[in-house]
Amino acid sequence: MRIWAIANQKGGVGKTTTTLALGRNLAAQGKRVLLIDLDPHSSLTRAFGVPVDPPPRGVLDLFAESPAALATLANPSAIPGLDFICAQAALATLERRSASQPGLGLALQNALTRHAGGHDYILLDCAPTLGLLMINALAAAHRLVIPTQAEPLALHGLAGMVRTAEMVERSRRRPLPVSILPTLFDRRTRVGNETLKKMQDLYGERVWEDAIPVDTRICNPSALTVAAVAGEYPGRGLSAYRRALEWILAEDALCLEQAA
Ligand SMILES: Nc1ncnc2c1ncn2[C@@H]1O[C@H](COP(=O)(O)OP(=O)(O)O)[C@@H](O)[C@H]1O
Ligand SMILES: [Mg+2]
Repeated sequence: MRIWAIANQKGGVGKTTTTLALGRNLAAQGKRVLLIDLDPHSSLTRAFGVPVDPPPRGVLDLFAESPAALATLANPSAIPGLDFICAQAALATLERRSASQPGLGLALQNALTRHAGGHDYILLDCAPTLGLLMINALAAAHRLVIPTQAEPLALHGLAGMVRTAEMVERSRRRPLPVSILPTLFDRRTRVGNETLKKMQDLYGERVWEDAIPVDTRICNPSALTVAAVAGEYPGRGLSAYRRALEWILAEDALCLEQAA
């Protein structure tokens, strides 16, 4: 079971889209995949068409005094092999509880360690806040995927996220390899191309050599929760995510080899 956190301290950079696109591409390869919505805004949960009021069962139940088993929270989706766990708005209140309830930083990792649900990949869709939920995700993950826009302002967010990963790596004494994925890319703009180049100069092989283009076929996350129709062209966005997945899988295999 491989666990990837999809995170960036900046909002609107394509985290939820990346989680869904990588997840459905993994499932298309025959893998069993579980997506976990760790954002109180519940974009991923809504993308699967789940009503959020009243709140569904989900991630918050992992933080109860007697935590629920992960497998009991997983919902099947319309895509074969792809399951998901909902977020709830009340996740935003966890921060306050963490002072009086020690150990909350490892609640997700504990749930995942006990999980025997038969999933090959678990993808964690993080909120853009550096708080308890993000710490939970980074503590549990084998890899951090950082979707980022190729624009000058986004470079600050990226630097912050890479620093956070290094901090987590030091404290848990286990590597947290990073894969930086340029998203929402418009090849026609000079500033986009220049920023992409700068990103590659700064972070080298940690940056994907290509970029996910802006594609109207995926400009709404719920477009990604519908099962593919046989023979249908997936569009350039999803095709790019397919290539990005191959790169991440190859990087992951390399890390596993080095660790062996
Ligand atoms: N490659 C893309 N092409 C077109 N629209 C995109 C693309 N990636 C993301 N979007 C859209 O941009 C918005 C923000 O993306 P989202 O994945 O929700 O970001 P985040 O989770 O980081 O807040 C959403 O409306 C999403 O549908
Ligand atoms: Mg999101």
